[in-house]
Amino acid sequence: MQIKTGIDIIEIDRIKQAIEKFDQTFLQTIFTQKEIQYCESHKMQKYQHYAARFAGKEAIFKALSSYYTECKWKEFEILNDEKGRPFINLKNNNIKISSIDISISHCQNYAVANVTALID
Ligand SMILES: CC(C)(COP(=O)(O)OP(=O)(O)OC[C@H]1O[C@@H](n2cnc3c(N)ncnc32)[C@H](O)[C@@H]1OP(=O)(O)O)[C@@H](O)C(=O)NCCC(=O)NCCS
Repeated sequence: MQIKTGIDIIEIDRIKQAIEKFDQTFLQTIFTQKEIQYCESHKMQKYQHYAARFAGKEAIFKALSSYYTECKWKEFEILNDEKGRPFINLKNNNIKISSIDISISHCQNYAVANVTALID
């Protein structure tokens, strides 16, 4: 069993610009319907939540990079439990991970995510 971690930080404005420029093409490429629903429900602050999920997926890719080199954006869905705690829903059964966890934070300008994975 090995522990792998990944971390990513992103400027929220970069994600805002990408969404304003490419709109649905960008959103549908990166995020699942449930992720879009969650971010859109936050209206004025939606870019913070999109950026956090973008950083989360980059952090996942970093954590898994020793094992998987061709991960796709929507193979990992970042959702929140009833208390707001984020978790990762794995949507590709071929990716074998014993356990994976994520923590997210965002302020006005930046979003950051940290991922820890246990891999056999
Ligand atoms: C949850 C909490 C830590 C968020 O902190 P914050 O400074 O307001 O906001 P941040 O930008 O740092 O973090 C926001 C992210 O926290 C995460 N989060 C929310 N609730 C969480 C929880 N209960 N546990 C872990 N992470 C949580 C979410 O991923 C959220 O981002 P998202 O909505 O885009 O998914 C804060 O609301 C809090 O202290 N709540 C008190 C209740 C609590 O659970 N305390 C812990 C006792 S051990």
